[in-house]
Amino acid sequence: MTEPPAGPTGTAPPAGDRQAIDSTVAHSARVHDYWLGGKDNYAADRAAGDAVIAAYPGIVASVRANRAFLARVVRFLAAEAGIRQFLDIGTGIPAANNTHEVAQSVAKDCRVVYVDYDPVVLAHARALLTSSPEGATDYLDADLRDPGTILAGAARTLDFSRPVAVMLIAIMHLIVDADDPYGIVATLLAAVPPGSYLVLSQVASDIQAEQMAEAAKRYNRLAHETQRHRTHDEVARLFDGLDLLDPGVVPVQKWRPRTPAESRARSAMWGGVALKS
Ligand SMILES: C[S@@+](CC[C@H](N)C(=O)[O-])C[C@H]1O[C@@H](n2cnc3c(N)ncnc32)[C@H](O)[C@@H]1O
Repeated sequence: MTEPPAGPTGTAPPAGDRQAIDSTVAHSARVHDYWLGGKDNYAADRAAGDAVIAAYPGIVASVRANRAFLARVVRFLAAEAGIRQFLDIGTGIPAANNTHEVAQSVAKDCRVVYVDYDPVVLAHARALLTSSPEGATDYLDADLRDPGTILAGAARTLDFSRPVAVMLIAIMHLIVDADDPYGIVATLLAAVPPGSYLVLSQVASDIQAEQMAEAAKRYNRLAHETQRHRTHDEVARLFDGLDLLDPGVVPVQKWRPRTPAESRARSAMWGGVALKS
């Protein structure tokens, strides 16, 4: 990518001066885009992405398996659990199967609020604001470490007296312990009524442990955000107080795969879905 993309239209708020695009250091949204084969990344992102690939060659398969997890869970929530509202935090640069596309393919009246703090994601928000007329999408330029602002902004589009799926897909490994990941999840879940769901995936420290430790070391040397990989137990604790759905916290490809090929995929990511009862 040589030029920052054009700014968004629709209901996306202006970027303000909270964060400008910095192409000199890797950012997770752009590195993730690189691994997914996208074009919205800079040399610094590709260098960090390649450093991770060198330590853990399975990373590309892992991010693909995670996107497939996202699509399966959204389809399940819309089709089988009757969920019509989604709060997707850490959206990333639009890719295949964005949350509103999957949800509205099941039920056109689904409402989706996307949240990310990366200015490149903001610049692409137009692609996320393509709701069916019966539903709605919105985009918030906000930081997960400030969940109060996210909840206030999302209330413009979502009705918090009705169930909401809170989605934290491949973002919690970017929240270090000092930023209170458990408190952030608890604050978000306290704001939604019974019948709501938490969907969460994050990079594992105890799958391919040696490779993942080396990958984190290399990434953290080159990137804007610090990765904090977590064990199965640490991830399971993020669901405390909720009812985990079968099969529990599992490698993302093992969460209700639809095909043998999906199940055979490899990842170093834990994922799960839980109900607030
Ligand atoms: C690895 S990508 C995941 C994208 C998408 N959820 C997926 O799974 O395909 C992580 C995203 O989280 C965003 N992110 C990281 N830390 C954040 C924070 N504190 N607040 C908001 N977004 C954040 C990054 O900008 C990036 O777009």
